[in-house]
Amino acid sequence: MPEDLSTALAEVRGLLLDPGLTRAVAAGRRRGATPSVVRAELRPVALKAGRRLQIVTNDGARPHTRNVAPGREADEAVDALLAEPFGNWHVESAGTTVQLRVTKKGDAQVHRQAAATTPQTHDHDRVRQHLLDPGDPLWEVIGGTAAKRRQVDAFLRALAATLPTDGLPQPLRVVDLGCGNAYLTFAAYRYLTAVRGLEVEMTGVDVREDQRDRNTRLAAHLGYAGPLRFAAGTILDAAVDPAPHLVLALHACDTATDEALHRAVGWGAEWILAAPCCHHDIAAQLRRQPAPGPYQLITGQGILRERFADVLTDSLRAALLRERGYRVDVTEFIDSAHTPRNLLLRARRTGQTGPSHEYEELVTAWQVRPRLAELLADRG
Ligand SMILES: C[S@@+](CC[C@H](N)C(=O)[O-])C[C@H]1O[C@@H](n2cnc3c(N)ncnc32)[C@H](O)[C@@H]1O
Repeated sequence: MPEDLSTALAEVRGLLLDPGLTRAVAAGRRRGATPSVVRAELRPVALKAGRRLQIVTNDGARPHTRNVAPGREADEAVDALLAEPFGNWHVESAGTTVQLRVTKKGDAQVHRQAAATTPQTHDHDRVRQHLLDPGDPLWEVIGGTAAKRRQVDAFLRALAATLPTDGLPQPLRVVDLGCGNAYLTFAAYRYLTAVRGLEVEMTGVDVREDQRDRNTRLAAHLGYAGPLRFAAGTILDAAVDPAPHLVLALHACDTATDEALHRAVGWGAEWILAAPCCHHDIAAQLRRQPAPGPYQLITGQGILRERFADVLTDSLRAALLRERGYRVDVTEFIDSAHTPRNLLLRARRTGQTGPSHEYEELVTAWQVRPRLAELLADRG
């Protein structure tokens, strides 16, 4: 039901100035009007001088941060932002989350949700906390189905579990290889900057120029242009300079995952998170030759061969990364009912190289040559 805009904005004002505010974002624009900034984000911060309301505005080129004192200064700053013709307000506070969208007619469409309660102890009714709120205005801009948002959030959860809580390099340089529509790229950028409070420089790489152009437009619209950029090119050859600390690859097709791992090793990336997609390369090699010993029982059946090839491919990838000085674990980042492509290779550079004889024995026994091994041998 549409509501009166000024009444709804008064409600938002109350939440923004309330000590229970968690964070708020204003973005988008109303029909026929353009705000003076592309986006504004507000959150309480505890400074030496005391509690302040932090306001980060972005004019499309760079962010501008100021911390205003409670009272008149905060009142005036909030009133000035509420006077801007933003199309959306998303406000989270201790008790409630309010999502306000201005309709084409200039009314307010308001969605109110009570804040999630403390997670229950029973598994079946556990409240799942999202790393990035499904109601975050970012999603309205970048789109994506509910399933994709869930997948991306699960990936972010794995990222959160991988990165140390402090001592990260700043700016943290991140690359997302085979980024496609860049749902993960945008969500990771937002998570790292808005939730973790990091300075981030991020590049999304995809071979498709149309994706680069679309994603670049969306980044500008969100006020991320500059620190978040998109490049069109192959994972193998895309120029990413300086080298990133963190490499992401979500469902880069087939051997594109090998290319991503190869680039990550070449850059000496500190952290790699790669969720592989289809695995045709090793499966095709297994099909062409007899299996060792009794294993024809596995590779003689198409579906078993494919599943086995998945396991073999990712085991070999992990072994190659270990040889190159990474500690690697292979986990499921989301349940298999969501996607069968739910494995995640998670690597942290330690500089301690793992053994190579087991890898050699495995490829010799199966007479396979993984694409990642070729890339590492041919291109360093
Ligand atoms: C299945 S989509 C995944 C997109 C995105 N990471 C996601 O999870 O939504 C794979 C993407 O990888 C890109 N891609 C495949 N091979 C590539 C390569 N060698 N170099 C660059 N991009 C590649 C495709 O264009 C496509 O956009």
